[in-house]
Amino acid sequence: MSVRPTTDQLHAPAIHVRGLEKSYKELRVLRGVDFEVARGSIFALLGSNGAGKTTVVRILATLLRADTGTARVNGFDVATQAAGVRESISLTGQFAAVDEILTGRENLVLVARLRHLDDPGTVADDLLRRFSLTEAGARRVATYSGGMRRRLDIAMSLIGKPPVIFLDEPTAGLDPEARVEVWQAVKGLAEGGTTVLLTTQYLDEAEQLADRIAILHQGRIVVDGTLAELKELLPPAKVEYVEKQPTLEDVFFAVVGDASTGANRE
Ligand SMILES: Nc1ncnc2c1ncn2[C@@H]1O[C@H](COP(=O)(O)OP(=O)(O)OP(=O)(O)O)[C@@H](O)[C@H]1O
Ligand SMILES: [Mg+2]
Repeated sequence: MSVRPTTDQLHAPAIHVRGLEKSYKELRVLRGVDFEVARGSIFALLGSNGAGKTTVVRILATLLRADTGTARVNGFDVATQAAGVRESISLTGQFAAVDEILTGRENLVLVARLRHLDDPGTVADDLLRRFSLTEAGARRVATYSGGMRRRLDIAMSLIGKPPVIFLDEPTAGLDPEARVEVWQAVKGLAEGGTTVLLTTQYLDEAEQLADRIAILHQGRIVVDGTLAELKELLPPAKVEYVEKQPTLEDVFFAVVGDASTGANRE
């Protein structure tokens, strides 16, 4: 069953979050989270371990219910229009969901079949090309490097062309070269019009990729803006007459504090 968005929904931001709250028993993880993500942009959600990034993503992906607040994805309400949300998204978690025994191409064909697409072989070959995996496509995934697996995982999540994609720590555990490969793949997605929400703990990743960056701290978004806007929060430091611009790392620690544990208990 296909869920058609209305015109209003089509013109809404890709993601719209207001007043989101979520507690696990005594632990108040989200205490009123607000943000918006424009269509076709890359939005990075930063935060320390346990800040609640995955919790936000799981709520947006309809895997978890918020206690209060509203969230709309591709114009659909996550609480009352979950089917519309699920048709609009894909979610890639930290651990690749690829089958090691199959080849890269077989993995893609399998998912395309599961989604009842017309020509699974063509879909697979197109994605292999887009993610520079054409040569590796005939090899078992067991022989792939971490970066190749992650690219295959992202490629798999694009089958069926979801307009919104969630990447929860897409480069965790990858070496610098593999991270750059994944970054290129993510940039390509946004250039193709896909909206990307990614979570990361790597500040350079957010600097490289994101059109907008938000920092989640103690249950709220404490800053939200472009990299340039975030850098304006701190005055440039002058060292021996050479002006040194603050890095995103300077901004992050100024906002979050060095001793942050990320825990949100009162
Ligand atoms: N099902 C659950 N039951 C109880 N507590 C949970 C549950 N899921 C998450 N938490 C707690 O909620 C807080 C936020 O977790 P979450 O996974 O959203 O953080 P995160 O920002 O994604 O962290 P990380 O950077 O480590 O992935 C943590 O303190 C975590 O222990
Ligand atoms: Mg997480």
